[in-house]
Amino acid sequence: MKIITRIEDLQNELAPLRNEGKQIGFVPTMGYLHEGHEKLLSEARRNNDVIVLSIFVNPLQFGANEDLDKYPRDMDRDEQVAKNHDVDFIFFPTVQEMYPEEPSVTVKVMKRTNVLCGTSRPGHFDGVATVLTKLFNIVHPDRAYFGLKDAQQVAVVEGLVSDLNIPVEIVRVEIVREEDGLAKSSRNVYLLEEERQEAKELNASLQLAKTSIQDGERNPEIIRKLMTEYLTKATNGKIDYIEIYSYPSLEPIKELQGQCIIALAVAFKSARLIDNIIFTI
Ligand code: PAJ
Repeated sequence: MKIITRIEDLQNELAPLRNEGKQIGFVPTMGYLHEGHEKLLSEARRNNDVIVLSIFVNPLQFGANEDLDKYPRDMDRDEQVAKNHDVDFIFFPTVQEMYPEEPSVTVKVMKRTNVLCGTSRPGHFDGVATVLTKLFNIVHPDRAYFGLKDAQQVAVVEGLVSDLNIPVEIVRVEIVREEDGLAKSSRNVYLLEEERQEAKELNASLQLAKTSIQDGERNPEIIRKLMTEYLTKATNGKIDYIEIYSYPSLEPIKELQGQCIIALAVAFKSARLIDNIIFTI
């Protein structure tokens, strides 16, 4: 496994492999790897000859009041995790390497962002789309792996590669959860003990919605109400949103039909958590 910090060095390593016809799988991350990221790495390993893992905490996607400076980092551990998954290259650039000067071009996402996390994090998905465009151009992967934990990100990325004709296959990977149902996240380490106890209720509320849908409920408003009531009782966190849309277009719907997403965000004192389920009716 090689750890590469310079763009040119990575391109020089990958070009001959690509010319030999090797398939390149790419897993973009911001590091502090956990089992969620590991699932992406195992999926990538199963279907490609060469695996590139990027670790880059991208300043462009953090708002002014967000946790860029305190975003958790542990490169030694990440290296070990990457080795265990037989990663070939870790791309670990500095901010200076990725953004040597004030950008003259960035990507602006026009759809799928005026809902869910897009409203409370203005500019976030433009930052994600910009860094991923750069990373796709640097790595030229055959396949790139994204977790449905960040389902809106998956929707935005699918729109990005389709609209800008980026020749990469986007692979959706299911959410990896803790035993009590909490979706694994690098930010879970921020949770205080009692918040960690309550955090499982996000998934419990989604399961409640699922049962109600299985019982025949098709009205998004009724499902939202059910979940709001449940979460208000079960946690002290502040419900940021509970929303139901078509997926991946993220359009409002009057009735559940086709592929849909129920997504929620709850702000605890020490961390804001998101979760979702996607289902087809
Ligand atoms: P990061 O938060 O590090 O996540 C990297 C990838 O891991 C994302 O595709 C995310 O959806 C996936 N992931 C995180 N937790 C998961 C879980 N519990 N189950 C399954 N997959 C999970 O997302 C980013 O970084 C950045 O926005 C990035 C795409 C790297 C662009 O900067």
